Amino acid sequence: MWRNTRSGWGVISIAFHWLSALTIIGLFALGWWMTGLGYYDPWYNQAPWIHRSVGVLLLLATFGRLAWRFMQPTPAAEGGRFERLAAHLGHIALYVLMLTVLFSGYLISTANGRSISVFGWFDAPAILHGLPNQASVAGDIHWYSAWALMVLAGGHALAALVHHWRWRHDTLRRMVNPRHAQPKPHAQPKI
Ligand code: HEM
Ligand code: HEM
Repeated sequence: MWRNTRSGWGVISIAFHWLSALTIIGLFALGWWMTGLGYYDPWYNQAPWIHRSVGVLLLLATFGRLAWRFMQPTPAAEGGRFERLAAHLGHIALYVLMLTVLFSGYLISTANGRSISVFGWFDAPAILHGLPNQASVAGDIHWYSAWALMVLAGGHALAALVHHWRWRHDTLRRMVNPRHAQPKPHAQPKI
């Protein structure tokens, strides 16, 4: 099942979700570690280069993820009216924060008008540069939005575990196993 249905997530959405989650947590740890490195550390230039390259790839992947999301149905949420609304708003906030962290990182790196070399494979051009105090304003936004994203993602993961263990919903299972997207046998037309 590549595509989503109203009963479950397809392989593409599941892959986007877990690869993005791992990459975001990795970028947060790398970002934090690399800004504490001394000038003579061998990773001083290398670590930000990796951070920026992986970040640009994640930005492109997130555009792809959003396009994919709007092209097809999403599984119906489980739980009461309030939980469903909270989950929906929470997911929108996660997407908004992801885009804020990604764009602000891009704006820090391109503030001086230079493009970003992505692992030496291609260059991401500096589309917006020369704004007043661009690097430091974008740097502040990057730092606070990265933290907000980690806190919200923590709450989101906790909610997923509560749905799974306490309420015994399929919410987490269907974000792991694309088989839930298959139509249920009783939903198939009788011949
Ligand atoms: C969701 C993805 C990302 C996360 C979670 C993340 C996280 C972080 C964190 C925690 C820091 C340390 C902040 C500080 O100490 O001020 C940082 C720094 C940085 N990030 Fe990201 N980042 C992400 C994406 C990106 C992207 C896409 C780019 C560029 C294309 C980027 C470029 C930078 C740069 C240049 C710094 C150094 C900023 C400075 O020294 O003030 N980041 N990032
Ligand atoms: C940085 C970490 C994470 C981010 C940014 C993130 C983001 C998201 C987003 C935006 C959605 C909504 C998908 C959509 O409607 O298109 C989602 C769904 C989901 N996430 Fe995460 N997630 C993260 C980590 C986790 C973790 C660690 C877990 C489990 C412990 C988890 C479990 C789920 C589940 C079960 C769903 C499906 C919810 C449903 O079917 O209504 N996520 N996630």
